[in-house]
Amino acid sequence: MALKLGKVTAVYPGSFDPITYGHLDLITRGAILFDKLVVAVLRNAAKEPLFTVEEREAMLREVVKDCLNVEVDSFDGLLVDYAARKGATVLLRGIRAISDYEYELQMALMNRRLRPEIETVFLMAGEAYSFLSSRLVKEVIALGGDISGLVPPVVEARLRQRVLGK
Ligand code: PNS
Repeated sequence: MALKLGKVTAVYPGSFDPITYGHLDLITRGAILFDKLVVAVLRNAAKEPLFTVEEREAMLREVVKDCLNVEVDSFDGLLVDYAARKGATVLLRGIRAISDYEYELQMALMNRRLRPEIETVFLMAGEAYSFLSSRLVKEVIALGGDISGLVPPVVEARLRQRVLGK
């Protein structure tokens, strides 16, 4: 068992297309648990995003600007290799419901196989956000529904502009 010395950096990876209050809840709690939290946007995703990586990073930066130990970045390639380059020993992920568990378990076990020295830590999503996803937020606004209270105001404005053109 290695002796833990020094400060712990965690990476919170994701698509963040766009950031929701569910993500922000996790970031706030992660920033309390760890000395440094790097919120990392995946660059080479197969899925077609609504916002570019730069737009997603800008929204994240705006929303976390008061969290002094939180850095916003983006990454390509294997998550564990990126985490190692950042000096991180923890990957942070949120779990909303049982349906998230299988996908998260697969990723956590694969990441552990690739780099056993990096641990995945799961936080349960706040119950108010356990139904919330970026995908549903985009669907609801596109169909004329109300998304206030689901994403920060700056994100709501960007979504309105991008999806509704106003
Ligand atoms: O928000 P998401 O889309 O659920 O995040 C998925 C993410 C970014 C965590 C995952 O796709 C990822 O880690 N991609 C990087 C590529 C990688 O390392 N793949 C092997 C890990 S199992």
